[in-house]
Amino acid sequence: MRKKNKIAILPGDGIGPEVIKETYKIINVLNRYFNLNIQTKEYDIGGIAIDKYGIGLPEETIVGCEKSIAILLGSIGGPKWNYLPLHQQPERSGLLNLRKKFGFFCNLRPAKLYPELRKLSPLRKEIVSNGFNILCIRELTGGIYFGLPKGTKKNGKNKYAFDTEIYYEFEIERIAHVAFQIAQKKKLRITSIDKANVLESSILWRKTIEKVSKKYPNVILSHLYIDNAAMQIIKNPSQFDIILTSNLFGDILSDECAMITGSIGMLPSASFNENKFGIYEPAGGSAPDIQNKNIANPIAQILSLSMLIEYSLKKPKISRCINKSIKNVLKKGYRTLDIANDKEKYITTEEMGNLISEFLIKEYEKNEKNVISKNI
Ligand code: IPM
Ligand code: MN
Repeated sequence: MRKKNKIAILPGDGIGPEVIKETYKIINVLNRYFNLNIQTKEYDIGGIAIDKYGIGLPEETIVGCEKSIAILLGSIGGPKWNYLPLHQQPERSGLLNLRKKFGFFCNLRPAKLYPELRKLSPLRKEIVSNGFNILCIRELTGGIYFGLPKGTKKNGKNKYAFDTEIYYEFEIERIAHVAFQIAQKKKLRITSIDKANVLESSILWRKTIEKVSKKYPNVILSHLYIDNAAMQIIKNPSQFDIILTSNLFGDILSDECAMITGSIGMLPSASFNENKFGIYEPAGGSAPDIQNKNIANPIAQILSLSMLIEYSLKKPKISRCINKSIKNVLKKGYRTLDIANDKEKYITTEEMGNLISEFLIKEYEKNEKNVISKNI
């Protein structure tokens, strides 16, 4: 039985625990001012779970997630566990198992350029002058990540390794429906990405996307090959609204989109299963090199919480208040090291969390006249 207000928090490894700590400050404000009654409980996943229990995804964590309305994840993995065989490493035994276990097939990764941070983009000024706001929709439980057979064998003296890129029609259909529904609702174009000039699985991908698109005649759909897409994204990112693609291509392109925003520490993501149960996590990695230095940017984690409030708790107005408070903190010029113009002048992880909480209280006070807490 899922509890309506319970969120399972999985801090994980690297900077995960320290940025998760900042989201508690936000949750406290939400409970105190916005009339939410969020209860949290922490569970282990990834490297820390391997250290404690010998496995990346302990049963207790699975049960805890099953009892919750949503999962908030920090980040997973680090060099400490590199010695383990591939299938025991935190990413495989923790994250990929979790995705498969709950069937989180649909991964949403928004990559938007913040006007305040335009200078941080590695792309030239003229290229980003129109801004961009790309939503990568990545299939997350199929394709080459999970396809069988996979393995390493020997043919006489010759060692070889293989993986299988496999897509069932139903897997392509269900992710396509999610993408088209979002596109229809928000009046966005879809670009579907594949390698249909080479791969059988991509031919089925393209045909299936075409078939599903017939049900959404108002949505503009186009197709690009992955190699061309990788070029187009850096040539003119503003031509894209939604990028819809497979697990592996989505892994690569979502990082490309994140990188050109110049602010990977600010990008959240959400994944859903067929029952709309969701997991929310920053798009960046566990960043072990900056772990425990109080310099990590907690914004991606706080925005992930904000997506959770919007989609799992169904409180879009409160989510907008969180986003607004982040925007206002940036407008006032506060920056963590990763996004600082002047590398001498920056605020810490904890200070950023404090400021966003304070600005969120201000948002509450501004909206109080509109009786926000009663209507949402
Ligand atoms: C991501 C990550 C994971 C992936 C790794 C850690 C297994 O890169 O979420 O994009 O490849 O999906
Ligand atoms: Mn990735």
